[in-house]
Amino acid sequence: MTTVIKNGTIVTADMTYEGDVKIAHGKIVEIGRHLEGEEVLDATGCYVMPGGIDPHTHLEMPFMGTYSSDDFESGTRAALAGGTTMVVDFCLPSPNQSLLEALAMWDNKTGKASCDFSFHMAVTWWGEQVWKEMAEVVDRGITSFKHFMAYKGALMVDDDEMFSSFQRCAELGALPLVHAENGDVVAQMTQKLLDAGNNGPEAHAYSRPPEVEGEATNRAIMIADMAGVPLYVVHTSCEQAHEAIRRARAKGMRVYGEPLIQHLVLDETEYFNTDWDYAARRVMSPPFRNKQHQDSLWAGLQSGSLQVVATDHCAFTTQQKRFGVDNFAKIPNGTGGLEDRLPVLWTKGVNTGRLTMNEFVAVTSTNIAKILNLYPRKGAIVLGADADIVVWDPKRSKTIKADSQQSVIDYNVFEGIEVTGLPRFVLSRGKVSIVENEVRTEVGHGKFVAREPRNPVNRALSQWKEISAPRKVERSGIPATGV
Ligand code: URP
Ligand code: ZN
Ligand code: ZN
Ligand code: ZN
Repeated sequence: MTTVIKNGTIVTADMTYEGDVKIAHGKIVEIGRHLEGEEVLDATGCYVMPGGIDPHTHLEMPFMGTYSSDDFESGTRAALAGGTTMVVDFCLPSPNQSLLEALAMWDNKTGKASCDFSFHMAVTWWGEQVWKEMAEVVDRGITSFKHFMAYKGALMVDDDEMFSSFQRCAELGALPLVHAENGDVVAQMTQKLLDAGNNGPEAHAYSRPPEVEGEATNRAIMIADMAGVPLYVVHTSCEQAHEAIRRARAKGMRVYGEPLIQHLVLDETEYFNTDWDYAARRVMSPPFRNKQHQDSLWAGLQSGSLQVVATDHCAFTTQQKRFGVDNFAKIPNGTGGLEDRLPVLWTKGVNTGRLTMNEFVAVTSTNIAKILNLYPRKGAIVLGADADIVVWDPKRSKTIKADSQQSVIDYNVFEGIEVTGLPRFVLSRGKVSIVENEVRTEVGHGKFVAREPRNPVNRALSQWKEISAPRKVERSGIPATGV
């Protein structure tokens, strides 16, 4: 069957133009005027854009004594409902667990996916086995490795381990990712706050101030530079971290920063709400920051020093959040956002003039497709690309409400925000999965997308590092030693 998206305006990261898009066998086969097909989707008044790619999700993830509540079924359904057509989830081996064994566990969760997906592999411990298995993981199409500099005693790795892993990434042409917070400092600050009787959710924010994130970001950048590898910093939430990334990029280093939609629009005052549940539902790491930090993140997206807007979707119910009722350090860290990322960013970004439509496509889809070597199969409207497409109606609006969301949790951190700009149609490899409020997702339609290592930036950087590597100076007439 052929499908044609007619009468819309195509918006990509670099162009805006009138055109119809024809789809067959899940791919874009023609772009032009007056195209015909068996199924016609009317895009009059709409923008036809590459579907969103969310490179940061935690679906059904074991964490802090529980599992995040959205799995690959509800998570990918939420993604599609909000115009996101691909997610990249984190495979987290337990300490001493084989990476391949963890991958088998994660593979088992994904049969329910209704949009395409990929994985990042986390390096949560270090040893010869991890070093070896990283090559096998890359062979299986997983070419990015996440390192937690926080969560001491659980997922955290130290500098020595990180440097070893980053060097291995350089050899394999893979991309290291970091959760940048100084885990040692956070652990001590947490204990001090608890000792002083500060056990509420607001103390979560006090335990991990922006300095802690800025320091870790600088450290990770330095280690990546020493290892000769690009670096991707997840959930960049503050000026200190952004400043480190900005400065590194200005020096020619290949560093990327990923603000979350939550950090762009929600601020630290959320933690001072007198309703414990309200505040605890917003506990995530890094925590929400003040308005100056938000302005910095928006400026980063505008100037290009930050490249990607993600969600870090890691959804816990109120019941799960209550594990930490006496102790903020036991509140499962994480918030949702998969369904809301595009509408909220459009409303707060494009509708305010902070972002152009093309920049919107770049930061929600195209840039990450390039960084993860998925481009132009994903993140593009070009011949041969997967037909992962959102037909965006800039006039449709709604008020975000938990009781009409796809996520299974019982609240939404964006509750009450009115968004203008919503999908009319969402296609996953050509399958019409969303028609306005109607969900037509197909469980199992989503497929794993393997990625190739050594993308152009990796190759360029390793070439440069090779040329500028230390060279022994050959000398004649060396004085005799020991005489
Ligand atoms: O609080 C968060 N961000 N939870 C998910 C795990 C992580 O650190 O990304
Ligand atoms: Zn993190
Ligand atoms: Zn995360
Ligand atoms: Zn299908």
